[in-house]
This record gives sequence, structure tokens and C-alpha cells, in this order.
Amino acid sequence: MLSGGIYRPLADLHVPVMVGEVLEFLLHDATGVYCDATTGTGGHSKEILERLASPGRLICLDQDPVALEVARERLENTGDQVRFHRGSFSRLDLVLRSEGLDGFDGILADLGLNSYTLDRPDAGMSYQQDVPLDMAVDPDVPRNAAELVQGASQSELAELLREFGDLRRAELYARRIVEARRGGLETTGDLVRALRRVDERRIDRNVDAGELSRIFQALRVVVLEEMPRLDALLAHAAEWLRPGGRLVVLSYAGHEDRKLKVWSKENTGSEGDFIALQKKPLAPGREEVGRNRRARSAKLRAFEKKGESGE
Ligand SMILES: C[S@@+](CC[C@H](N)C(=O)[O-])C[C@H]1O[C@@H](n2cnc3c(N)ncnc32)[C@H](O)[C@@H]1O
Repeated sequence: MLSGGIYRPLADLHVPVMVGEVLEFLLHDATGVYCDATTGTGGHSKEILERLASPGRLICLDQDPVALEVARERLENTGDQVRFHRGSFSRLDLVLRSEGLDGFDGILADLGLNSYTLDRPDAGMSYQQDVPLDMAVDPDVPRNAAELVQGASQSELAELLREFGDLRRAELYARRIVEARRGGLETTGDLVRALRRVDERRIDRNVDAGELSRIFQALRVVVLEEMPRLDALLAHAAEWLRPGGRLVVLSYAGHEDRKLKVWSKENTGSEGDFIALQKKPLAPGREEVGRNRRARSAKLRAFEKKGESGE
């Protein structure tokens, strides 16, 4: 039994994506200090720890206390090479301060959702379960998904569905949410029923599974403040890395990709603080996608902070 009373066989946990590529770009010095800023259930962290040499260290961070507890149980026999912090990567300054560090030699950000969290009924992330509409797996965020769908205007809902779910019919779904919320939208099932309302005359207007999962994604992005937090990480990455330090980011969704593309353009080249370590974002190989469907939309970007290490 893992913490929180939730049993999951370890073999069933989130499968880490592009492990070989992540390690190749991130671990330029096996004796350095690294931060897995999105440890989740510890897939990448475990691989990193196996390759560190004394006095190398890994700081494992996650916003979600339940996922972090699973990682802690998986990795606790690694001894004093590993430390755990619960919080957002937008405040890595707090982690550096409490560890007495001047910067990291590498930061990994594997964005998006852990499949462990998706399957956890108490998280309210999946349209396939009928549970409270929560999604606030970080106890520091100000509102959960039920409060978001009750409080936002129809145009705000349409905007967030378009921006973070790439939904062509964002207006239609925003209207359905607003009409249904008068009767209360408390559970994931209430939301799915509101969205699925069958329009007999326009069968093409019925929501499909892909759209449902992107609607849930869009709400999660707003509830967990994913975009402003990614902005903060990118804005401070140069400050939080030592010279020669690496930033490796795995993204999965269009809105993340658009942001990273702009940041990469503005922060690399002769004026920027970083060197891009790859010409174009890397995608997983066919074999990995065949083995792990979740990897199919992954894009890896890796950057090195300019300046000699040890300067
Ligand atoms: C795709 S999962 C990471 C999976 C992990 N690499 C593994 O191999 O198990 C993304 C994780 O990032 C966490 N996360 C997302 N945004 C975060 C933030 N701003 N600060 C800290 N953790 C965050 C989520 O809670 C989730 O556990």
C-alpha cells in the first residue's frame, strides 16, 4: 500500500518519457546538483539518481503532495543524495535558499499531467470517472475546477477552452457549461452530462472523447495556474542555473509549445543567456510511442546557460 491509502503496483505508475534523451542533455556532470522540478511519481528522478556520483545530488520537487509521497517511497533508499520539496517550480528560489545553494547544474521540467494523478479518483482529472470536480492537487491554488466553472463568465470559459484545449467549438461548450451550472456542476459526471447534451437536430454538435479530454485539460491548466508558473520558471531559469547548467523541458500541448518556442527565440542566440542544444524540438522514436502512447505528443527542448562552469 502506498501513502494516502492508495494502492498502485509500481509497474503501473507513470512511464517516464524520452528518458535516454533527457539524461543525455541534463546530466553533463554526474557530480552536480540537479532539480527534477516535476518529480511526479519519480520516474525520471529514479533514472537520474542511478547515474549520479558522489557528491552529486538530486532535489525532487512537485506541487502534488500525493504524487511526491509515492516518489519518496520509491526513492527513499537512495540515502542523502536525494531531497524532497513540495511546491511549485515557479518558486525554485525558495528551494535553493532552503538547501543553501547558489544554483542548479540542471533543471528538468516534464510538463503536464502524471498518469497516476489522472487515474486517482480524488483528483477529479478524468472525464471517465464520476467524482467531485476538483483538479486542485496543489493545495496552494486558490480555487478548484467546480469553483472555476461556477465563477467564470461565458466568454472567459470560451477563451480558456480555445487557448488551452485547442477547441474549435469553444463557444458551444462554454454556453453548455453556463446553462448547466444553474442546476449545480459539482462532479466530473455533471460536467460531462452538460457537455454531452445531445442536440437531436445537429448530431455533429455532440462532444467526442478527444474534445472531452481537451476540455478537462483546459480547466486543469487554469486551476493549477500552469501558464503563469511556466512563465516564472522560464523568466528565472538563468538566475537559478549555474553557468554551463542545463534546462530540459518536455512539453505535450499546443499552448506549452507556443510559449516555449517564443522563449527559445528570445533567450538563445548572441543576445540571450542560453544556447539551444538542439536545432528543432526532439520527438520520441517510433518504438517509444508504440510502447507508451502518452509519449506521442512529447517535444523535448534542451538549453545550456552560457558561461564556463566554475566561473
Ligand atoms: C508529466 S508529470 C511528471 C512525471 C515524472 N517525470 C515521472 O517520470 O514520473 C508532471 C508533474 O509535474 C507536476 N507539476 C506541474 N506543474 C508544476 C509546478 N508548477 N510545480 C511543481 N510541479 C508541477 C505535476 O503535479 C505532475 O506530477
